[in-house]
Amino acid sequence: MNATKTFDVQKIRADFPILSREVHGRPLVYLDNGASAQKPKCVIDSIRHTFEHEYSNVHRAAHALSAVCTDKFEQARRTVQRFINAPEDREVIFVRGTTEAINLVAQTYGRENIRTGDEIIVSAMEHHSNIVPWQMLCEATGARLRVAPMDDTGTLIFDEYVKLLNERTKLVAVVHVSNALGTINPIKQIAEAAHKVGAVVLVDGAQAAPHMQIDVQDLGVDFYAFSGHKAFGPTGIGALWGRAELLEAMPPWHGGGEMIKSVTFEKSTYTEIPHKFEAGTPNIADTIALGVGLEYLMEIGLDAMEAYEHEVVDYATEQLSKIDGLRIIGTSPRKAGVISFILDGIHAADAGMILDEQGIAVRVGQHCAEPVMDFFKVPATIRASFAFYNTKEEVDALVAGIQKVKDLFAQ
Ligand code: ALA
Repeated sequence: MNATKTFDVQKIRADFPILSREVHGRPLVYLDNGASAQKPKCVIDSIRHTFEHEYSNVHRAAHALSAVCTDKFEQARRTVQRFINAPEDREVIFVRGTTEAINLVAQTYGRENIRTGDEIIVSAMEHHSNIVPWQMLCEATGARLRVAPMDDTGTLIFDEYVKLLNERTKLVAVVHVSNALGTINPIKQIAEAAHKVGAVVLVDGAQAAPHMQIDVQDLGVDFYAFSGHKAFGPTGIGALWGRAELLEAMPPWHGGGEMIKSVTFEKSTYTEIPHKFEAGTPNIADTIALGVGLEYLMEIGLDAMEAYEHEVVDYATEQLSKIDGLRIIGTSPRKAGVISFILDGIHAADAGMILDEQGIAVRVGQHCAEPVMDFFKVPATIRASFAFYNTKEEVDALVAGIQKVKDLFAQ
C-alpha cells in the first residue's frame, strides 16, 4: 500500500508548531532530526502544565502536588516500558540521554564485570558516545576494545563480527541505527551470537527510537538506551532499559538522596531498582513530557510512521542520486532516517551554509562519528535526517537547494 496516501502528514505537521515558521524568509525545511527532533504541541503543553499547575518534587513529600507529580512521573516510566515492550517498569532507569545511559553501564556493570584481558566489541559505525565510554573502561580495567568491521556500503560484516566473539568477549555494544549512515543493524542476530559466548549486549537506540517500533524482548538484548529529544520529547531526559537481574546485581553509580535504604557515617545501604540508579532530584517536568510524547507516537502508530517515512527517504535517495557529483555515503540495503552525502569539490560546511540561507536545516561535519568519516576517507558529510513529519515536497526543496549550491560553485 502507498503509505503517503494513508498517512495524513499535514495533520501531523499541524501538531508541531515550529514547522510552520520561516527561516531567512523561507519556509523551514527541517532535516536535522538526527541531531534533535522537533516537539509536538502536547509535549510543549505538558511542560507548561506541570510548572503552572502541578510542579513539586517527586517521591518525597506528604502533600497533594508531590503525589500528582510522583504519579505522573511513574506513569512516564510505564509509558517507556510500553514503548520498548520491556517486561517490567522497574527496569526503566531515567537518565539525561543515551550518552549518560552508556556511561552508566560502563561505569557500573563494566567496572564490576570486566577485567584485564577481557574484550568488548563495538561496531565500526559507532557514534563517539558508544566508543569513548568503553575506551575509558578499557583504560581503567586493562580490557581490550575490538571493532567489528563494515563494508563499503556501511553494512556490518556479520561473519567478521562473529569471528571476533570468543570466551574473552564480555560485552557487545552496538548501534541500532547509525547516526552518520542510517544503517539498521541486525540486532537480534548480533545478540544471539553474543549470548552464545556469554557476552551481554548493549544497544544504542538513539536513532532507532524515533523511527521504528522497538521491542527489547524480541531483540533479545540486555541493555537498550535512547534519548527523549531525538524521539520528539524534551532534551535532558532519556531512558536506559536493562534486564532486572543485571540491574539488581550492578553497583549504584551516583550516590545521593533517594538511592539509599539507610545512611550512617559508617555505612550506607542502597535501595531497589530503578531508584538505586536515580540519585538526586530528577528532571521531573521533562520526564512527564517524555511520557506524553511517547504516548502521542504510539497513538499515531510506530509502524505507520515507519512506513510513511520509509517512502519519503526512498524518494529522497532516488532524487539525490540523480544529482551529478553527489555521492551518498552509506548505501546499506536496510536504512532508516538518514542520508549522508558529499558534493564533488564543495566543502560540506559551505553547502550547509547555502542550504541554511534557503531555510533548509541539515547537519554538516563528522556527526560525532570520526571513525566513520575516516573509513569512507571523507573529512565531513552533509546529512539530511528525516522524521515522520517530513514530506516529498521538502525533499524537492532540498534537491533545488543543492542545485543552487552547485550553481554558485560553478560560477
Ligand atoms: N548524535 C547527534 C547527531 O547525530 C547529535 O547529530
